[in-house]
Amino acid sequence: MRPLLVAPSILAADFARLSDEVRAVDAAGADWIHLDVMDGHFVPNISFGPGAIAAMRPHSKKTFDTHLMIAPCDPYLEAFAKAGCDIITVHVESGPHLHRSLQAIRALGKRAGVTLNPGTPVESIENVIDLVDLVLVMSVNPGFGGQAFIPSALEKIARARALAGARPIDIEVDGGITPDNAAAVARAGANVLVAGSAVFKGGAGAYAKNIAAIRNAAATARGEAA
Ligand code: DX5
Ligand code: ZN
Repeated sequence: MRPLLVAPSILAADFARLSDEVRAVDAAGADWIHLDVMDGHFVPNISFGPGAIAAMRPHSKKTFDTHLMIAPCDPYLEAFAKAGCDIITVHVESGPHLHRSLQAIRALGKRAGVTLNPGTPVESIENVIDLVDLVLVMSVNPGFGGQAFIPSALEKIARARALAGARPIDIEVDGGITPDNAAAVARAGANVLVAGSAVFKGGAGAYAKNIAAIRNAAATARGEAA
Protein backbone atom coordinates (compact mmCIF):
# COMPACT_ATOMS: atom_id res chain seq x y z
CA MET A 1 0.00 0.00 0.00
CA ARG A 2 1.25 3.51 -0.81
CA PRO A 3 1.66 5.78 2.24
CA LEU A 4 -1.34 7.80 3.38
CA LEU A 5 -0.79 11.52 2.77
CA VAL A 6 -2.90 14.61 3.49
CA ALA A 7 -2.45 17.58 1.15
CA PRO A 8 -4.08 20.85 2.27
CA SER A 9 -5.16 23.03 -0.66
CA ILE A 10 -3.82 26.58 -0.42
CA LEU A 11 -6.87 27.73 -2.42
CA ALA A 12 -8.73 27.87 0.90
CA ALA A 13 -5.97 29.83 2.66
CA ASP A 14 -5.88 33.58 3.35
CA PHE A 15 -4.22 34.90 0.15
CA ALA A 16 -3.05 38.04 1.97
CA ARG A 17 -0.91 35.84 4.26
CA LEU A 18 0.23 33.00 2.01
CA SER A 19 3.67 32.52 3.59
CA ASP A 20 2.15 32.31 7.10
CA GLU A 21 -0.52 29.90 5.87
CA VAL A 22 2.04 27.60 4.24
CA ARG A 23 4.09 27.59 7.44
CA ALA A 24 0.97 26.98 9.53
CA VAL A 25 -0.26 23.91 7.60
CA ASP A 26 3.30 22.57 7.38
CA ALA A 27 3.59 22.79 11.18
CA ALA A 28 0.07 21.35 11.57
CA GLY A 29 1.08 18.09 9.89
CA ALA A 30 0.48 18.55 6.16
CA ASP A 31 2.35 15.93 4.12
CA TRP A 32 2.16 17.83 0.85
CA ILE A 33 1.09 21.38 -0.04
CA HIS A 34 -1.55 21.30 -2.82
CA LEU A 35 -1.41 24.31 -5.15
CA ASP A 36 -4.45 24.97 -7.37
CA VAL A 37 -3.58 26.99 -10.45
CA MET A 38 -6.62 28.35 -12.35
CA ASP A 39 -6.68 30.44 -15.50
CA GLY A 40 -10.27 31.67 -15.91
CA HIS A 41 -10.42 29.79 -19.20
CA PHE A 42 -10.08 26.06 -18.54
CA VAL A 43 -12.02 26.64 -15.31
CA PRO A 44 -14.30 29.56 -14.40
CA ASN A 45 -12.02 31.00 -11.73
CA ILE A 46 -8.55 32.57 -11.48
CA SER A 47 -6.20 31.78 -8.59
CA PHE A 48 -2.40 32.24 -8.73
CA GLY A 49 0.57 31.38 -10.91
CA PRO A 50 4.26 30.51 -10.75
CA GLY A 51 5.24 33.85 -9.16
CA ALA A 52 3.12 33.21 -6.08
CA ILE A 53 4.35 29.60 -5.87
CA ALA A 54 8.00 30.76 -6.03
CA ALA A 55 7.22 33.19 -3.20
CA MET A 56 5.73 30.39 -1.07
CA ARG A 57 8.55 27.95 -1.80
CA PRO A 58 11.04 29.14 0.87
CA HIS A 59 8.42 28.68 3.59
CA SER A 60 8.16 24.88 3.50
CA LYS A 61 10.30 21.89 2.56
CA LYS A 62 7.20 19.75 1.96
CA THR A 63 6.33 18.45 -1.50
CA PHE A 64 4.70 21.16 -3.61
CA ASP A 65 1.87 19.31 -5.37
CA THR A 66 0.72 21.55 -8.21
CA HIS A 67 -2.65 21.03 -9.90
CA LEU A 68 -2.75 22.92 -13.18
CA MET A 69 -6.25 23.89 -14.30
CA ILE A 70 -5.01 25.86 -17.29
CA ALA A 71 -5.20 25.47 -21.07
CA PRO A 72 -2.84 25.37 -22.78
CA CYS A 73 -0.48 24.05 -20.12
CA ASP A 74 2.61 23.22 -22.18
CA PRO A 75 3.93 26.80 -22.50
CA TYR A 76 3.99 27.17 -18.70
CA LEU A 77 5.41 23.85 -17.49
CA GLU A 78 8.98 25.16 -17.30
CA ALA A 79 7.88 28.20 -15.27
CA PHE A 80 6.17 25.93 -12.72
CA ALA A 81 9.23 23.68 -12.54
CA LYS A 82 11.45 26.72 -11.93
CA ALA A 83 9.03 28.02 -9.28
CA GLY A 84 9.82 24.95 -7.19
CA CYS A 85 6.92 22.60 -7.87
CA ASP A 86 7.78 18.94 -7.14
CA ILE A 87 4.73 17.35 -8.76
CA ILE A 88 3.02 18.91 -11.76
CA THR A 89 -0.42 17.53 -12.58
CA VAL A 90 -2.21 18.28 -15.85
CA HIS A 91 -5.80 17.65 -16.92
CA VAL A 92 -6.66 15.09 -19.59
CA GLU A 93 -9.14 17.66 -20.94
CA SER A 94 -6.72 20.60 -21.12
CA GLY A 95 -5.18 19.90 -24.50
CA PRO A 96 -4.76 17.52 -27.43
CA HIS A 97 -1.28 16.29 -26.50
CA LEU A 98 -1.48 14.79 -23.01
CA HIS A 99 1.36 12.36 -23.70
CA ARG A 100 3.65 15.21 -24.76
CA SER A 101 2.76 17.28 -21.68
CA LEU A 102 3.63 14.39 -19.35
CA GLN A 103 6.90 13.73 -21.18
CA ALA A 104 7.74 17.42 -20.85
CA ILE A 105 7.12 17.40 -17.07
CA ARG A 106 9.43 14.40 -16.63
CA ALA A 107 12.04 15.98 -18.90
CA LEU A 108 12.03 18.94 -16.48
CA GLY A 109 12.96 16.51 -13.71
CA LYS A 110 9.57 16.69 -11.98
CA ARG A 111 7.01 14.06 -11.00
CA ALA A 112 4.17 13.94 -13.49
CA GLY A 113 0.51 13.72 -12.55
CA VAL A 114 -2.58 13.32 -14.65
CA THR A 115 -6.10 14.30 -13.58
CA LEU A 116 -9.64 13.70 -14.79
CA ASN A 117 -12.76 15.81 -14.50
CA PRO A 118 -15.79 14.02 -13.02
CA GLY A 119 -17.22 13.52 -16.53
CA THR A 120 -14.07 11.91 -17.96
CA PRO A 121 -13.62 8.13 -17.78
CA VAL A 122 -10.54 6.42 -16.35
CA GLU A 123 -10.03 4.73 -19.75
CA SER A 124 -8.79 8.11 -21.04
CA ILE A 125 -5.51 7.66 -19.16
CA GLU A 126 -4.80 4.04 -20.09
CA ASN A 127 -2.29 5.03 -22.77
CA VAL A 128 -0.27 7.34 -20.52
CA ILE A 129 -0.19 5.28 -17.32
CA ASP A 130 3.51 4.45 -17.76
CA LEU A 131 4.32 8.18 -17.92
CA VAL A 132 2.76 9.18 -14.61
CA ASP A 133 3.72 9.18 -10.95
CA LEU A 134 0.28 10.24 -9.77
CA VAL A 135 -3.35 9.97 -10.86
CA LEU A 136 -5.68 12.63 -9.43
CA VAL A 137 -9.37 11.76 -9.44
CA MET A 138 -11.46 14.95 -9.23
CA SER A 139 -14.42 14.53 -6.91
CA VAL A 140 -15.87 17.96 -7.80
CA ASN A 141 -15.89 19.94 -11.03
CA PRO A 142 -12.68 21.95 -10.76
CA GLY A 143 -12.76 25.71 -10.24
CA PHE A 144 -13.87 26.30 -6.69
CA GLY A 145 -13.32 25.09 -3.17
CA GLY A 146 -16.17 24.24 -0.85
CA GLN A 147 -18.20 22.06 -3.23
CA ALA A 148 -19.90 18.78 -2.33
CA PHE A 149 -18.13 15.45 -2.97
CA ILE A 150 -19.46 13.60 -6.05
CA PRO A 151 -20.01 9.95 -4.98
CA SER A 152 -19.21 8.43 -8.40
CA ALA A 153 -15.58 9.39 -7.72
CA LEU A 154 -15.36 6.32 -5.46
CA GLU A 155 -15.69 3.88 -8.34
CA LYS A 156 -13.24 5.94 -10.42
CA ILE A 157 -10.67 5.82 -7.61
CA ALA A 158 -10.98 2.02 -7.55
CA ARG A 159 -10.58 1.86 -11.34
CA ALA A 160 -7.55 4.15 -11.26
CA ARG A 161 -5.98 2.05 -8.48
CA ALA A 162 -6.57 -1.10 -10.55
CA LEU A 163 -5.11 0.53 -13.67
CA ALA A 164 -1.99 1.56 -11.75
CA GLY A 165 -1.50 -2.06 -10.67
CA ALA A 166 1.95 -2.65 -9.20
CA ARG A 167 3.40 0.60 -10.57
CA PRO A 168 4.61 3.13 -7.94
CA ILE A 169 1.73 5.51 -8.64
CA ASP A 170 -0.06 7.62 -6.02
CA ILE A 171 -3.85 7.84 -6.32
CA GLU A 172 -5.02 11.26 -5.15
CA VAL A 173 -8.55 12.56 -4.66
CA ASP A 174 -9.53 16.23 -4.68
CA GLY A 175 -12.79 18.00 -3.94
CA GLY A 176 -15.18 17.97 -1.01
CA ILE A 177 -12.98 15.76 1.18
CA THR A 178 -13.94 15.79 4.87
CA PRO A 179 -13.41 13.48 7.86
CA ASP A 180 -16.82 11.99 6.95
CA ASN A 181 -15.83 10.68 3.50
CA ALA A 182 -12.09 10.17 4.08
CA ALA A 183 -12.63 6.53 5.07
CA ALA A 184 -14.60 5.77 1.89
CA VAL A 185 -12.01 7.30 -0.46
CA ALA A 186 -9.19 5.51 1.36
CA ARG A 187 -11.06 2.21 1.17
CA ALA A 188 -11.61 2.77 -2.57
CA GLY A 189 -7.84 3.10 -3.02
CA ALA A 190 -6.90 6.76 -2.71
CA ASN A 191 -3.72 7.32 -0.68
CA VAL A 192 -3.38 11.10 -1.10
CA LEU A 193 -6.28 13.19 0.20
CA VAL A 194 -6.51 16.85 -0.83
CA ALA A 195 -8.61 19.09 1.39
CA GLY A 196 -9.17 22.83 1.28
CA SER A 197 -12.19 23.96 3.30
CA ALA A 198 -11.98 21.06 5.75
CA VAL A 199 -8.39 22.00 6.70
CA PHE A 200 -8.55 25.81 6.66
CA LYS A 201 -11.74 26.21 8.69
CA GLY A 202 -11.58 27.60 12.20
CA GLY A 203 -8.33 29.55 11.87
CA ALA A 204 -4.70 28.47 12.27
CA GLY A 205 -5.34 27.07 15.74
CA ALA A 206 -7.59 24.41 14.23
CA TYR A 207 -5.41 23.23 11.32
CA ALA A 208 -3.68 20.41 13.23
CA LYS A 209 -6.97 19.06 14.53
CA ASN A 210 -8.56 19.35 11.07
CA ILE A 211 -5.71 17.50 9.35
CA ALA A 212 -5.65 14.83 12.05
CA ALA A 213 -9.39 14.22 11.70
CA ILE A 214 -9.01 13.46 7.98
CA ARG A 215 -5.87 11.38 8.51
CA ASN A 216 -7.34 9.35 11.37
CA ALA A 217 -10.51 8.50 9.46
CA ALA A 218 -8.52 7.34 6.43
CA ALA A 219 -5.91 5.48 8.50
CA THR A 220 -8.58 3.54 10.37
CA ALA A 221 -10.18 2.54 7.06
CA ARG A 222 -6.77 1.26 5.87
CA GLY A 223 -6.42 -0.81 9.02
CA GLU A 224 -3.65 1.40 10.32
CA ALA A 225 -3.40 2.86 13.81
CA ALA A 226 -4.89 6.35 13.83
C1 DX5 B 1 -10.96 22.55 -6.99
C2 DX5 B 1 -9.56 22.37 -6.45
C3 DX5 B 1 -9.50 21.75 -5.11
C4 DX5 B 1 -10.14 22.57 -4.04
C5 DX5 B 1 -10.55 21.66 -2.95
O1 DX5 B 1 -10.87 23.02 -8.29
O2 DX5 B 1 -8.80 21.55 -7.33
O3 DX5 B 1 -8.14 21.43 -4.76
O4 DX5 B 1 -9.29 23.55 -3.52
O5 DX5 B 1 -11.26 22.38 -2.02
P1 DX5 B 1 -12.32 21.69 -1.05
O6 DX5 B 1 -11.54 20.70 -0.22
O7 DX5 B 1 -12.87 22.82 -0.28
O8 DX5 B 1 -13.32 20.99 -1.93
ZN1 ZN C 1 -6.78 20.76 -6.69
